[in-house]
Amino acid sequence: MTEILRANATTIQKAWELLKNGEVVVIPTETVYGLWADATNDAAINKIFAAKGRPQDNPLIVHVDRKTSIDHYATVTYDLEKKLIEQLMPGPLTIILPKKDSISKAATAWLDSVGVRIPDHITAQQCIRASWTAIAAPSANISWKPSPTSASMAHRDMNNKVPLIINGGNCVWWIESTVVKVVSETEILILRPGMITKEDIKDIVGEDIIVQYSSKHQEQSPGTRYTHYAPSGKVQIINALHKKTIEELLSQGHNIWLIATKEFLSKHKNIINHFTNPQTPQDDKPATLQPITTFPWWSHLKLTECAQSLYNLYHKCDDLHMSIILIENLPEKGIGLAIMNRVKKSTKE
Ligand code: TXA
Ligand code: MG
Repeated sequence: MTEILRANATTIQKAWELLKNGEVVVIPTETVYGLWADATNDAAINKIFAAKGRPQDNPLIVHVDRKTSIDHYATVTYDLEKKLIEQLMPGPLTIILPKKDSISKAATAWLDSVGVRIPDHITAQQCIRASWTAIAAPSANISWKPSPTSASMAHRDMNNKVPLIINGGNCVWWIESTVVKVVSETEILILRPGMITKEDIKDIVGEDIIVQYSSKHQEQSPGTRYTHYAPSGKVQIINALHKKTIEELLSQGHNIWLIATKEFLSKHKNIINHFTNPQTPQDDKPATLQPITTFPWWSHLKLTECAQSLYNLYHKCDDLHMSIILIENLPEKGIGLAIMNRVKKSTKE
């Protein structure tokens, strides 16, 4: 049985005692809930991979409590790395650095590098500080499923797999950290887009520095090879809504959920009404196309809020047994890049 306890001094002590004893514990960060283990302990690390069903060649991010701790576990060389650490940590940023021997080889999938992050979350910081070690933590979901952003979401995947879940309330960002790698004095690769956008990084490092995200760099980040973030239903990215397609899917017996911005809903309101309005001739059939009119904050003007609700909506799709999830293709700019990165990975193609 897995205990869920509210974060306080007593439960944080319980968490770090478990961590010191080589156990795995679920603890919140500001991005998503993490599945934590001592990054210097091989046996503990193996428990993370077992609980998640994670392929052994997918390295974990290592979390430290403060900037000065990074030196114990990794080597900072480039000025650009120093700048990113100085300006963006603690926060939702992971930087790939050459690894030192103190970190378990299993944690980094036997790579020479390690992803380092300083979470900006009081409970996470207190747990790391109290345990006097670095913490390896992937998101606390079964591999390929959406990341949890609350204790109850983490419980769904990790019940009976870990002794303790610390409940620190909802996360702040609800999407995983931006993963970056500095490859020269003038170039930064974004391996996984996130809430810290390419534009944010450019603002800090200056216009002369190349900051790029490209799927062709994905071999540099083993985790990006795998399907991720997926609800049980099939996710399809759409640019427009076609009556014929919906009819075909409904005739195949699918339950369809539409995740789209209010701009998209308004553009396609006739077709949405056709399938959902009880006054239409479709009345004799149960309406199974469910547009999310209850999420009015989905808007092109509010992409942060879209990103923050994505995993929650995916979890809801599972609760409602939706077999098809149609999701609007959003422009891949700013936070839109992070959203579409997660959405594309969830299509299982
Ligand atoms: O926000 C987050 O980053 C959350 C919280 C818990 O910190 N963690 C998280 O971890 O999302 P995970 O394991 O779900 O994703 C780690 C990503 C994977 O895509 C992995 O391939 C990449 O980081 N990564 C980790 N170490 C790496 C390395 N040494 N080189 C390249 N990519 C690495
Ligand atoms: Mg993950």
